[in-house]
Amino acid sequence: MKIDFANLKYQHELYKDEIELAILKVTRDCSFIMGEEVSKLENNLQNFTSAKNAITCSSGTDALLLSMMALDIKAGDEIITTPFTFIATAETIAFLGATPVFVDIDEKTYNINPNKIEEKITPKTKAIISVSLYGQPSDMDAINHIAKKHNLKVIIDGAQSFGATYKGKSEVHHADIYTTSFFPAKPLGCYGDGGAVLTNDDDLAKKIKMLRVHGQDKRYHHKYIGMGGRMDTLQCAVVNVKLNHYTKDLALRQEVAQKYTQAFKNKNFVLPDQNEETTSAWAQYSIRIDNRDEVQVKLKEFGIPTAVHYPMPLHLQECFKYLAYKEGDFLISEKISKEIMSLPMNPYVSDEEIEYIAGIL
Ligand SMILES: Cc1ncc(COP(=O)(O)O)c(C=O)c1O
Repeated sequence: MKIDFANLKYQHELYKDEIELAILKVTRDCSFIMGEEVSKLENNLQNFTSAKNAITCSSGTDALLLSMMALDIKAGDEIITTPFTFIATAETIAFLGATPVFVDIDEKTYNINPNKIEEKITPKTKAIISVSLYGQPSDMDAINHIAKKHNLKVIIDGAQSFGATYKGKSEVHHADIYTTSFFPAKPLGCYGDGGAVLTNDDDLAKKIKMLRVHGQDKRYHHKYIGMGGRMDTLQCAVVNVKLNHYTKDLALRQEVAQKYTQAFKNKNFVLPDQNEETTSAWAQYSIRIDNRDEVQVKLKEFGIPTAVHYPMPLHLQECFKYLAYKEGDFLISEKISKEIMSLPMNPYVSDEEIEYIAGIL
């Protein structure tokens, strides 16, 4: 058997008539920048999440940048976040001249541990960025409680979690700003780079819209230092089609996750946490296993692709050497990064594939 990890080809086959038609329409209209598919997607994202505002942008990375720029994050500020995430979460903080302050993760959810946040707050702290790793929201009540007490803003890096819920609502309702990514392999992916910022705060939304287009409030009049951060009309057209099918796709991901969990129930490795307060978008189904590297090689021989998200926590990355963290500073993140392994995850993983993977494992 040869299993596909994200199975983007199969998804394209399924939706290709609609997607190719939508792309063709944009090419014929020649409305490549800020065409009608852009505002259509923003409306669709608002409807999907019940957010007051959705602003599309060039990537999940730029969504983080735009969010922090809107909150006036600047040199000297400190932003609390997790070291167990993709580099973009902390890189964007540093890019703006602010300092990422890491807090270790919870051993069950792999998301930031709220119990360890308060000890890291200083007069320079401006915001907390939680990451909904693998699609699962963090403990937002605890995070918001701390943020309120210390007058901090909360951003959720939901690059992996579009469609997830916390206490029955989309994550945007549990933060000042929620960002996401439409990178092709994300649960809701486009055919290149794309992202979005969602917020219920109208003033922030207005500012983010300006920041996305070079800070301009009207053509060639620039109120803020901004950036060229628009999402292409073509990419919006792709997401508009996929969003129509997304509720079904999310349900299928959930089913695949349940089937994995069922198939692995007597196995000797740690399965993803599932709790009553959250629903995950299941960007990844990641298990923990002692001899991970060896297992990966073996699985590959049997046609089973795996991935590691992420092999090195951010406090140990070369680019953050100047922050002077060292091995042993975040023991849980370090441990999990050595054991974690993501299995093929997409809405179309079949029962036979799950059975085969469980058997080989
Ligand atoms: C947690 C997290 N944050 C941010 C990003 C950045 O998103 P993008 O690749 O769209 O810039 C990603 C994507 O890989 C991610 O997984």
